[in-house]
Amino acid sequence: MEQSKTTHFGFKTVLEDDKEKLVRGVFSSVASNYDVMNDVMSMGVHRLWKKHLIEKLDCGMRPNSTEPLNFLDVAGGTGDIAFGLLDHARLNYGDNSSTMTVADINPDMLSEGAKRCLTTPYANSPRINFIEQNGQTMSAIPDNSKDVYTIAFGIRNFTDIQAGLNTAYRVLKPGGIFACLEFSHVDNPALDYFYQAYSFSLLPLMGQLIANDRDSYQYLVESIRKFPDQETFAGMIRKAGFYVPGKGYENLTFGIAAIHIGVKL
Ligand SMILES: C[S@@+](CC[C@H](N)C(=O)[O-])C[C@H]1O[C@@H](n2cnc3c(N)ncnc32)[C@H](O)[C@@H]1O
Repeated sequence: MEQSKTTHFGFKTVLEDDKEKLVRGVFSSVASNYDVMNDVMSMGVHRLWKKHLIEKLDCGMRPNSTEPLNFLDVAGGTGDIAFGLLDHARLNYGDNSSTMTVADINPDMLSEGAKRCLTTPYANSPRINFIEQNGQTMSAIPDNSKDVYTIAFGIRNFTDIQAGLNTAYRVLKPGGIFACLEFSHVDNPALDYFYQAYSFSLLPLMGQLIANDRDSYQYLVESIRKFPDQETFAGMIRKAGFYVPGKGYENLTFGIAAIHIGVKL
């Protein structure tokens, strides 16, 4: 008889086939107060990290270009990165043509994003669309079709992270950029000690008090711990086929988060 494969869901071992459903449950549960959750998880610093990612990428149609860019923000949730990239392109390069696809596996997160979109300059614009997709396969996105692929705080939730990276490579055009912002591993042992104490004792408690949802926060903390360290993840990006410039990542706030970059040559 064929044995079902297992994987981790936080610190629990679960069947691979069940993980997607469990992750979906977590994000459906936090969707309505997702922004609060992000602020709690990162002590508000996620806003600065996201701003830094957007400025680092510095995307937008340059004045001598006639080709709008096709952005894809995977695990895009409530749309912070998507709106930020479009804003950056518009405000810095007068780019009112580039398009954005926000893909997420969770319809509750997507509908929070679509609701939020109504308060942006992109409300009811054909330049932005929200689609329900599993980032591991992205069956609705053709090969070689995107210029920039971003994913923020999403990929650690994938059942098969390497499949997600392989798919990023597939959907990007040659010359396209892959950029991932994710919680990572603190590079200073003393600081890591305090960070672990904060994460494992305070975060689930705050989840309980703020959102009456201890379990989701417990999962989020554990999933950060289970995510590969910076060097290992850079190796996985290389394995997907990307050229990784330099060491391939930038640590943010001592490695609490990191930005990894890959280029499809
Ligand atoms: C922590 S949220 C991040 C949302 C947003 N990128 C941000 O930075 O605010 C993680 C998101 O990943 C999505 N997600 C988890 N697994 C996924 C998968 N396999 N494919 C696509 N999205 C996924 C969740 O539904 C959730 O919206």
